[in-house]
Amino acid sequence: MKSTQLAHQLVSDRLEGSEVVVDATAGNGHDTLFLAEQVGVTGVVYSFDVQEEAIRMTRSRLEEAQISDRVIMCETGHENLDEVIRAPHLGNISAIMFNLGYLPGGDHSITTLKGTTLTALRKALECLRDGGFLTALCYPGHDEGLEESVEVLTFLESLDQAHFLTKNYRDASIPDNVPFLVSVQKS
Ligand SMILES: C[S@@+](CC[C@H](N)C(=O)[O-])C[C@H]1O[C@@H](n2cnc3c(N)ncnc32)[C@H](O)[C@@H]1O
Repeated sequence: MKSTQLAHQLVSDRLEGSEVVVDATAGNGHDTLFLAEQVGVTGVVYSFDVQEEAIRMTRSRLEEAQISDRVIMCETGHENLDEVIRAPHLGNISAIMFNLGYLPGGDHSITTLKGTTLTALRKALECLRDGGFLTALCYPGHDEGLEESVEVLTFLESLDQAHFLTKNYRDASIPDNVPFLVSVQKS
């Protein structure tokens, strides 16, 4: 199973509907659409991206599916998520998905970076409710992605595992440059 599919399966197993969730990297909008479908008509999705193109593509995907009303598009870096997410939702987020790297088919120089990604991950873990779930899909196949992947994994594995259970789904038999998924379950 591809890591993107695995992330969807793990998140959908934990959502029942009506939750508040976050797509930290909107990109082409596949994860935002998935989350919007999962939370249903009474749920809320915050979707972040720094690129106008990604915001536009995501919005049009949602409009086509007629479910844009439950999604708040945020054209800013995920490192600012605590400034954008409404106060009642802070600490009450059920799932947050990071799909790191650059926009497929877009400008590869606009990519997530280890410094802002780590800031965002720290804030995201604070925003999760107890029992909330975070996924981070890492892309070690390009130089910046490799550095970022190492930092992300090191950070998530260094969390107090009594409160944040980290799982690395990287298969040891797979080459080092293949994307891999990490998840954190907050207890
Ligand atoms: C791999 S793509 C995401 C794919 C997307 N989840 C999908 O389903 O199509 C990574 C995205 O992260 C965005 N990005 C880069 N830096 C960012 C930041 N600081 N905050 C939010 N998004 C960022 C890029 O613009 C790009 O669209």
